[in-house]
This record gives sequence, structure tokens and C-alpha cells, in this order.
Amino acid sequence: MDEKDELTLSPPKKRSVRAATPNSPRVVMECVEILTPSKTRPRIIVQHPIPASPAARAHTLDSSSPTCPPPKTPPKRGRHLQRKAKIVSDMPQVLVLAETLQQAPESEFNCSAPAARQPKASLRRKGKTAWKLPTSAEELPHTLPVELEPCLQLQKHAIMRSLRDLPDIVAQDDHVSANATAYEQLSNLLRGTVLRGEGNSCLLIGPRGSGKSRLVEKAIKSLPEKPIIIRLSGHAQHNDRLAIREIAWQLAQQTGRSFLPSESNSPSDVIDPDENPFLDSSETTIVLPPPAHLLALISVIPTLPRPTIIILDGFDLFAAHARQSLLYCLLDTAQSCRVGSGTKGIAIVGVTTRVDTINLLEKRVKSRFSGRMLRTSCLSELQQWVELARSALTAPVSEDVPEEWPPLWRVAVDSFLQHEKVIEEFKESFSLTRDARTLCRILTTVVMNLTPALPYPSAEKLAASTGIQRCPARFPFLASLPYPAICLCIAAVHYQTSGHNTFTFEMLHEAFRDQVRTSQSAPVQIEGGGIGMMRCSREVLAGAFERLATQRVFTPVAAPSLGTAKEFVFYRLVPDRFELKRAVEAMGQTNLKKWFSKA
Ligand SMILES: Nc1ncnc2c1ncn2[C@@H]1O[C@H](COP(=O)(O)OP(=O)(O)O)[C@@H](O)[C@H]1O
Ligand SMILES: [Mg+2]
Repeated sequence: MDEKDELTLSPPKKRSVRAATPNSPRVVMECVEILTPSKTRPRIIVQHPIPASPAARAHTLDSSSPTCPPPKTPPKRGRHLQRKAKIVSDMPQVLVLAETLQQAPESEFNCSAPAARQPKASLRRKGKTAWKLPTSAEELPHTLPVELEPCLQLQKHAIMRSLRDLPDIVAQDDHVSANATAYEQLSNLLRGTVLRGEGNSCLLIGPRGSGKSRLVEKAIKSLPEKPIIIRLSGHAQHNDRLAIREIAWQLAQQTGRSFLPSESNSPSDVIDPDENPFLDSSETTIVLPPPAHLLALISVIPTLPRPTIIILDGFDLFAAHARQSLLYCLLDTAQSCRVGSGTKGIAIVGVTTRVDTINLLEKRVKSRFSGRMLRTSCLSELQQWVELARSALTAPVSEDVPEEWPPLWRVAVDSFLQHEKVIEEFKESFSLTRDARTLCRILTTVVMNLTPALPYPSAEKLAASTGIQRCPARFPFLASLPYPAICLCIAAVHYQTSGHNTFTFEMLHEAFRDQVRTSQSAPVQIEGGGIGMMRCSREVLAGAFERLATQRVFTPVAAPSLGTAKEFVFYRLVPDRFELKRAVEAMGQTNLKKWFSKA
């Protein structure tokens, strides 16, 4: 029988010896021959060299581990035989390998897709049987146990909801905040209009993000009856015509009828140079009054079946409208609205950030304004800002969650808000803006990036998110400028400090030469190296100067003219002193630092 036939017909044990080691001694063949199915199992493990990848190792484990199902397709015979032959020749190594594999934790090997979940499954077991509530950041599990993953999603939703409508900050006992006072006054004023039919007007003044709009909405919500509410914005309705169109539209929507004259083909309705060309007039079904009827329309408002509140956001912009007719009409109507005359009340609430708005009003308009001015203020302390963040981050989850989740999340948030770097980041943001919306935007990105693998807010995430909200650095390359260029910048800073904001190339060149001379006349050595300034030729400096001008680090003060030589054109240094200081410090050259510190 030739070898081919033998390979296909005879039992595998014989073929293995021939195929793999045709010239090997008899001992080897015997070793292979006595294999039984039960004994082959451990042998299969040790046949392989150390698997390079986890997948390869997993394959090894497949056949040995009782938990893993055996591979569906048996290994190819030829390869099988070769491996067996290797067992014998590499026996000492084989033993070591077997030992290593036995020691290795089972979870290190991924056998198949279901087994890939094994590490998480073990965490779940641990969580269910021996869950220990964390009391500090160190005790928090690094990755979230599988059964708590849905809680993270629910918590994220709760935080997002809370960030959209931030909870109120409770004022200190002895200190009633400006917003609380303004709220009290505004709701009294609106109650007067809604309950007693008064005509009122007031101005709500405060910086951006100080809660003006929030306060108005809260005061309206607290009213016992639902009035007609008209909201106008100086940014959208930039002339009286657009404003009256909006009033008519909102009145029609809330009362269900039109109060406008029926003659639809009035010429003023069709041609108006002031009209916003981007408005789609084909959709407008409400007939617009001619400007002459403006007063007439507004005087109709108190006769409506319900009281009306008109909110003018960006009140100062309405003061810029021609002749301030809309403001005049509104305030005049409010002033002439008498209690007990059978009419419903009207309240005009102006909202603005400009403290001098009252001075923008014409005399006849000002005389009709009640003069009531309510003020709102931003959060005054960093602690309030942090508390706002805390209340948003610990927003309660409305659905049922495992009882471990709330304390775990509280510990995570507490340790986040107590972290030194987090406080530092908040401090920096707070010093730049006190607008609570900025805080909301920063926290939104932090919360969006939470995953079961990285489930807790961290200082790094906060820093990244804060960076997104800030302007990028104008000159990020300053720290990597070559030596001649940074020398020219330092020379320019020296000129700035001495009161010359503008300089020419010649001036900088001279300053550099002087510095080189000074540093070399009294050479100082630190750790064997000189810290004197290096010389640069005039051409090198001129090249560096031109590059700085193209990079806009230096900008010409006046338009270039043919009459002035290049060296004598005046320039200005654009980056500020602190940006350059940071760059010089980042470079770490002692000679440059010393020169800069003298400026
Ligand atoms: N005292 C406060 N407590 C909680 N949130 C506040 C407070 N003041 C402002 N905010 C939040 O700041 C954001 C901006 O408020 P908003 O009323 O729109 O400001 P403004 O109209 O003054 O520009 C809103 O999300 C609001 O919830
Ligand atoms: Mg607002």
C-alpha cells in the first residue's frame, strides 16, 4: 500500500507518525499510539504554542474548558498530526505552557460571543450577592455593573430635563435675593391686572442669563386666571408694522376672532418698503391694518373678554422704532385703563438688559410709563453656581431604579464637585460669565459623554467640555516659534512696557542687539551651560519679522505706502503680554525667561 492510501484508509494514529515525523524513533510513535480520547484533551491544550492573540487563546480554551462547547468543525488532519509531533519534541516547553494556561484567569479568554459577556456577568453576580455601597470615589466600581446600565441612561435623561429647566436656588435665610423681590413685585402687578382689571406697566432690567424670562414665565404661571399673552421681541419685530402684525396674529390665535378692519385691499397692506422680504405673505390670512389704525387696534385690547399681558423682550430696541408709536400706543392704553369702567386689565412688561433704557424714551412716552423698574441679578457666588450644578446632576430619576443606584450616583457627583480641578474649572468659567446657560451647556456635554465604561463625570470631561464653550486660542503656535521670532516678540513687549505700542523692525533689531551684548558682557553659567543670549544675523531676524507679520502676530499700524522703506513701517504686537509669557515659560529657556521678566 502506498503512502497516499495508507493516509486515507488506516486509523489516524498510524498516519500521524508517518505524516509528521517519518524518521522519528519508535518511542515517539508509541507515545502517540497510547492516546485515548480522555487523555487527548489536556494534550490538545499543550499542542499549541502560546497563542498570540486572545482569540487564539480562546480557541485553545475551547477544547479544554468544560464550560465552553467543543469546536463544531474538527481541526484539519494534516495540521493535527504536525502538532502532535511537536508535542513530543517540545516537551519541556509544553509543560510550562500548560501551567501558564491553568494559572491564567478564565475571563481572560474569549471563547465565543456569549462568553464575551463573561466579565460583566461575574460583576453582576458580585453586585447581586455582595454589593457594597460606595462611600467614597475610590470605592466606586470602575465600569458600571450590567444591571445598572439602564439606570445611567435614565439618570442622563433626568439630568437633561433638569438642565432645560434648572431648579431654583434657595436663597440664604438672611438674604433675600434680588430675583425673589422682583418676582414678588411682578406677580403683584400682574395679579392687579388679571384680578382687578388694572392697567400696569413695568420694566424688568438685568444682565443676560439673570433669569428675567424665567421670572416672567413663573409669574404668569402663578396667576389664578389665564390671561391673553402677547410676546414680542425687539430682535424679531424690528419695526412697528411687524410688531402690529404679530399682535394681531397672536390675538387672533388666542381669542379665535379677528379685530382688524375688513377692507383687505387697502393699498398700505400690499406695498411696504420696510416689510421683511423673508416673511411668507401668502400664508397670512389676517388682514393688516394701515399704520393710521395702529392706535385703534391697541385701544381694542382692554375690551377683550380676558385681561391681556404684553411682554416686550428687548424693550430698548422698541425705543429705536420710528416715533416710538407702538410704545406710545401701548403705554397710553395701559395708563388710561381705569378700574371699574367695564374693561379688562392690560399689563405691559418690558424686558431689557440696558440700565439706561428709560432715558431712551421720548418725553410723551416716558410720561405714560408708570416708572416701575424691577431688577434681577446673576448668581453672586461660586458656591451657588456649584449648587446649581449639583441640583442638576442629582436630578431624581422618575422611573423605578435599583436601590443601589441613587447612593452610588450621589457619591459620584459629590466626588466630582469636590475635586480640586473641577472647582478650579468652575471658578474660571464663573469669572468669565455668570450666565447659568453657559453652565447648562458645559454640563450637557459632560453628561452626554457618560458611558457604562466611563460612567462618572470627571474633571477631564469637564475641562474638555469647558474648552468647547470658549474661543480657541488666537495664537496657539506661540510656544513653538523659532528663537529669532520669539526674541522679536519679547523685544516688542519691552517696547510696550516702556510706553511705545508701535515699533519698526529697526527698533526691535536694536533692542535684540542690546540684550545680546548685555548678556554676553556678564556671562552667567548654570549647571555648566551658559545662559547668555545667542546672536542672530540681521537677515535671519528680518526673515523672522516677515513671518510674524504674515502670521498676524505683528500687524501694520497704517496702510502700506510706497514712500516708506520696509524697515521703517510701524507695527503693533497683537497677542497680549500674558499669552507671550505663557509661551516663553513653556519654552523653558532661562535666557529668554530672564529677558522677558525684565519687561
Ligand atoms: N436664580 C436662578 N436659579 C436657577 N436658574 C436660573 C436662575 N437664574 C437664571 N437661571 C437659568 O438661567 C437660564 C437663563 O435664564 P433666562 O431667564 O433666559 O435669562 P435672561 O432672560 O435674563 O437672559 C435659564 O435656563 C434659567 O433656568
Ligand atoms: Mg430672556
